[in-house]
Amino acid sequence: MPSISDLQLEHIPIATAEFGHDPLPYFAAARSRHDWLAASDIGYVLTRYRAIDDIMRLDDKLKMPGEEILDIMGAHGTGWGDFCVEQMLVSSGERHARLRGSVSKAFGPGSVKGLRPLMRETVSGILDEWAPKGAFDFTDFAAQFPVRVMFALLGTSVERLPAIIKDLEIHGESFNLEVENMPVIEAGYQRLWSFVDGLVEERGRDGGSGDLLDTMIAANSAGTITDKELRQLLILMFAAGYDTTKNLLILLMRSLLDNPEVYRRAGEDFDYAKKVVKEQLRFATPSNTMRIVTEPFEYLGVEIPRGTMLVFPLTLSGRDPAMFGNPDGFDPERPEKHPTQAFGRGMHICLGQFLAVANVEEGIHLIAQRIRNPRLAGDVTWKPFPGVWGITSLPIEFDAVLGDLKAPR
Ligand code: HEM
Repeated sequence: MPSISDLQLEHIPIATAEFGHDPLPYFAAARSRHDWLAASDIGYVLTRYRAIDDIMRLDDKLKMPGEEILDIMGAHGTGWGDFCVEQMLVSSGERHARLRGSVSKAFGPGSVKGLRPLMRETVSGILDEWAPKGAFDFTDFAAQFPVRVMFALLGTSVERLPAIIKDLEIHGESFNLEVENMPVIEAGYQRLWSFVDGLVEERGRDGGSGDLLDTMIAANSAGTITDKELRQLLILMFAAGYDTTKNLLILLMRSLLDNPEVYRRAGEDFDYAKKVVKEQLRFATPSNTMRIVTEPFEYLGVEIPRGTMLVFPLTLSGRDPAMFGNPDGFDPERPEKHPTQAFGRGMHICLGQFLAVANVEEGIHLIAQRIRNPRLAGDVTWKPFPGVWGITSLPIEFDAVLGDLKAPR
């Protein structure tokens, strides 16, 4: 049986600007050479939905890169470096279960349902401020929304948002692994640390409101999580929920600029808006991820040895023509029911997925009511593909509607 390194694979330039701008032709070329694998500078890339589904669930044979990132970045002994090797996403076994268990209840579908009025109120407030402009970069608008909901979820005043938004951007980009940025990354991380430290100090230990922050502080007081784990979890909450949800909303707006009728209906009919978000979760999403093989295994006649780096392009796996008819068409009524891979598979499957989906559903329904007939008004620019992928600039112009059209649902 051939080992993965014996295969003749297409080499795709996954970390280049060209790739980030237009990745799909590279995936098509790779599949014409080998059905489900491509090579790249950062690891072997799984180019099929099915292979991602099967392999990403092998939690006992895979691990997230941690120490390897520190080596690349020379980040040993830094706060950001500790975060890279200690946070929930890189932990496993009992530690992972303990960390996840300390916050998971707050992210279940039931808890998220209760947050929908807050989401509507938040997006309406931002639209009051932004819709009268008639034109803006949609990425600036989207940067305001999910993070404000997270602030509210943690019972924190939104006036503090400007103090950390830049540092959240820096943190998101830190996983592009640009060594020269390490001093900026560490300084940003230290500011995020001081910020969450301040939240914990101010809240105190009385657990008055029973919100997410109180739940986490209670877990700390009970000895379930340490002081450092509490701060790292809080940073993870802000960081994991900021760049990703924001980028999903931006990618959705990009899709809908090409589908004005779908956009219009998403504003009129909330159930249809939900289908639109579901279709976007197939069409293009923000998070790619990687794993290192810790136990060798075999898949479809290929040996995958220990130490192999695997790349899971979750962002575009929904465009696999073996799974979806007309994969490049945007059709909220499409018949296929294969679940999205946007939130991963296996033990680390996204903790915030219900929150993220609800945010974008509520967001697009109200945005489509207030930002009418949006048109592209400039160049679209893209992030690098590995890590959190998405759009960095989406200038639009539109017809503004002042005030919500419909009574709250
Ligand atoms: C559209 C928005 C989002 C996307 C596409 C997304 C995607 C992902 C993916 C792919 C993973 C798994 C990564 C891996 O296994 O390597 C993940 C994990 C995680 N996500 Fe999200 N995420 C989103 C929003 C959120 C939000 C809003 C939060 C919470 C505030 C959140 C918190 C987390 C956490 C804590 C983990 C780690 C879970 C664990 O290790 O058990 N995410 N996310």
